Amino acid sequence: MRKRIFLSPPWVGADERRLVGQAFDSGYVAPCGPMVDAFDRRLGELSGQHAAAVASGTAAIDLLMAELGVGPRTTVVASSLTFIATVGPAVKRGAKVVFVDSDPATGTISIPLLEQALADVRRPAVVVAADIYGQCCDYDALEEACARHRVPLVLDAAESVGATYKDRPSGLAGAAAVYSFNGNKIITTSGGGAVLSRDPELVARAKWRAQQSREPVAWYEHREVGYNYRMSNLLAALGCAQLGRLPEIIRRKRRIFDFYCSLFGQGHLPALPFPCAAHTRSTNWLSVFLFPSETLRDKVAARLEAANIECRPVWKPLHLQPVFAENRVYGGDVAEDLFRRGLCMPSGAGLTRADLARIARALVG
Ligand SMILES: Cc1ncc(COP(=O)(O)O)c(C=O)c1O
Repeated sequence: MRKRIFLSPPWVGADERRLVGQAFDSGYVAPCGPMVDAFDRRLGELSGQHAAAVASGTAAIDLLMAELGVGPRTTVVASSLTFIATVGPAVKRGAKVVFVDSDPATGTISIPLLEQALADVRRPAVVVAADIYGQCCDYDALEEACARHRVPLVLDAAESVGATYKDRPSGLAGAAAVYSFNGNKIITTSGGGAVLSRDPELVARAKWRAQQSREPVAWYEHREVGYNYRMSNLLAALGCAQLGRLPEIIRRKRRIFDFYCSLFGQGHLPALPFPCAAHTRSTNWLSVFLFPSETLRDKVAARLEAANIECRPVWKPLHLQPVFAENRVYGGDVAEDLFRRGLCMPSGAGLTRADLARIARALVG
């Protein structure tokens, strides 16, 4: 069997090895040190906000849920078409989650349906809106809706690192945002994430909570119980090297997307790109296409799998997940349709011409 082509493997090399080696040699083999500080700073420059690097995107969301008082007897309004981590921390804190469908033109959270949910739910604690597959939600419309209903907005920008919304960096809206640097993301620290906010005090509190809520005195003093969520210095070194590579990764991901567009545009296989609004410049973290039917989508997926090439259906909407069978959803049809007909294609920045030719052969014979 030929070597497997994965969906979105990390693209790392000599720079990552060198910086991780430097971190190792510095003696800071710990969840603090110069690389973590440098990574915070550079994430701040990338995102236009203050930043704190943490152990995962999920940890970053958990810290924000703590900050915003999410807990029993609170309600969180969230995107349905996303990964479970968007709402997992809120659920674990005992909050009720209400889901909102996608907009057919963008694939991200529908603003009219969000407005409906906000009009119905009595004083929601927070709205968590998820960017998807490398593109941003409609931040301005989200901010307006949340301001009208006096609800803080958190952007789950795990999938949009490096993208822009109307020339602003991804995640730059609302009360706060998170990035993820999981192994499959556009840049990786193997596992990692970040809390981002324009409010320096919010980020300082997140950092404090991520380090056991320790008071700044010589002994261990705690007025609150915190978490052990800070990023390791070794992994932050990986992150610093990956940030240097991000522009090239984005160029490559966009070229891969163009390759699929021309392949699917030739008429052998009718598939359209996943919706993307004009307000956002996607990184094409994943190249996602919609087929005319679920049957055809499954046939294409089977062909790829037979050639040992990984692909994956679009996110199963959270309102369809068995664990959320009792949760309320506003709309739902759009996300369900995207799930049924959508396929995420291999999108690794390290894909070679030979890999792409192999994918093309598997698709069109
Ligand atoms: C939309 C979204 N939110 C949150 C996460 C969680 O991030 P992590 O895996 O770093 O915890 C991910 C990806 O893993 C994601 O795709």
